[in-house]
Amino acid sequence: MNKAKHIAIIMDGNGRWAELKDKKRVKGHEAGAKVVKEITTFCSQSKDIERLTLYAFSTENWKRPRLEVEFLMKLLESYLRNELPVYLKNNVRFEPIGDTRAFSKSLQKTIKDVQEKTSHCDGLVQSLALNYGAQDEILRAVNKIKDCEDFITEAMLSNALDCKHNVDLLIRTGGDHRLSNFLLWQAAYAELFFTDTLWPDFTTDDLQKIIKDFTKIERRFGGLK
Ligand code: FPP
Repeated sequence: MNKAKHIAIIMDGNGRWAELKDKKRVKGHEAGAKVVKEITTFCSQSKDIERLTLYAFSTENWKRPRLEVEFLMKLLESYLRNELPVYLKNNVRFEPIGDTRAFSKSLQKTIKDVQEKTSHCDGLVQSLALNYGAQDEILRAVNKIKDCEDFITEAMLSNALDCKHNVDLLIRTGGDHRLSNFLLWQAAYAELFFTDTLWPDFTTDDLQKIIKDFTKIERRFGGLK
């Protein structure tokens, strides 16, 4: 039976969820942050799930209206501050991926602080993708190693990426069927699941159902059964 050791999620649909309820888009992000908390706690209690990587802010999300970007930054900072004791209680290690140098000094400090204070935790690894784009990640990795190596192998490149772990199960909520520049290298053999459910409505039951379906899939990784 397959184990979903590394689950990655594109958390889409916050804005539409809010608009459907006649609320401002940012209310959808607020509701989405609560779901991040619930799903992380659920995963931290599963004996099979080792990593949970969540797409929280992409390199393209800067194109959104300034006020929405500012709100997302504040939400992220308060989420991380409030979650630190929860991470510690649940033995969750926080490992950001993405180029966080573009964030404010205060947010960078909070990110680093939570990362350092949870570095001893050896349960679930929760990675938030922050100012993350897979193409940017691959380019940064190539630029890191290009001067030291004449010939770059798959292992070398993989090791230079922010996220060095292949994804088993990649889920996208919100009805669209695309990867939106998320973990393009690491998802090479991931099983892809798409659901119309908007992220703020996504529940641990939904995740459990997807994991159950995932376990039944025959994964061949390009070989034969
Ligand atoms: C997509 O919804 C979601 C995002 C831009 C990023 C995800 C953000 C959160 C889940 C909230 C904050 C996260 C943390 C970790 C505190 P959308 O706005 O694109 O929705 P739409 O497609 O309906 O417009």
